[in-house]
Amino acid sequence: MAQVIKIFKLKNIISIKDFEREDIDYILDEASKLENIALSKEISEELKGKILGMMFFEPSTRTRLSFETAMKRLSGKCIGFEDSVSSSVSKGESIADTAKMFEGYSDALVIRHELEGVSKFISDIVNVPVINAGDGAGQHPTQTLLDLYTIKKELKSIDNIKIALIGDLKFGRTVHSLANALTLYDNIELYLVSPPELKMPQEILHDLDKKEMSYTEVSNINEIIDKVDVLYVTRIQKERFGDINDYLKIKGAYVINKKMLEGRKLIVMHPLPRIDEIDTDVDDTKYNKYFTQAANAVPVRMAILKTLINNNPK
Ligand code: NCD
Repeated sequence: MAQVIKIFKLKNIISIKDFEREDIDYILDEASKLENIALSKEISEELKGKILGMMFFEPSTRTRLSFETAMKRLSGKCIGFEDSVSSSVSKGESIADTAKMFEGYSDALVIRHELEGVSKFISDIVNVPVINAGDGAGQHPTQTLLDLYTIKKELKSIDNIKIALIGDLKFGRTVHSLANALTLYDNIELYLVSPPELKMPQEILHDLDKKEMSYTEVSNINEIIDKVDVLYVTRIQKERFGDINDYLKIKGAYVINKKMLEGRKLIVMHPLPRIDEIDTDVDDTKYNKYFTQAANAVPVRMAILKTLINNNPK
């Protein structure tokens, strides 16, 4: 029988909505093959001589460091800045000019910005692959890929899961991307748990409706905790509130603790950073998968970088 050669079609990773299920499968399969290199058990020179340009206009710890680790584990190098203050944008340079310059220096760009659509804008003006590492309250597609990788590893399947997205569903870009991605899987039971002020935006609900994916919106965790395999918890996105008093009213709305979880068969995920929405007493329990999830960022981002850079040589 002829061997089926799988290919990854996307040049840029801007929105998870650009992915078909086979594109996600491709990255998850590649990531699992790269685990030994991510864990430093094997050495790879797959991206030797390649440079990743990192333009982080908004703060980041995990995303930036895991992209950097991923590049270095494949023997590539990184250049870039960690905030707008340390880039020439603070002198008044346009984002377009900064991006054109980075294009000349690197083989792919990773961009985080507080405005939705910035990565897409840059992908239209440069020739190297562009990866969206979070655009405002928009999308965070590479986080979703590592979230799906974690779910698949922990639960053996993404189809047929029961999952609750909890917290700031209005401003949280990780839950926007994840909700969109789940529409590609079969028989998902989806619960959207948030205070009324922070409900999932209509635009995402409309996407779910279009894909005929049903969901249940609730504001009380107790209504769903018995029903789910995954609690995907997020922080309230303080920096995206126009009025700090609105944030203060909602702060601490949900706190998951060990007592609530005992005797249940579920896992707790969180894209991190955590503020107070998961009590630290959960950290030493079998429910905690958030640190594993953060570690999974490395093989998944290795798979992304390897695929995009090798598929799109300069
Ligand atoms: C998330 C983000 O930046 O959107 N963090 C991350 O990338 N792991 C979540 C958050 O900031 O709350």
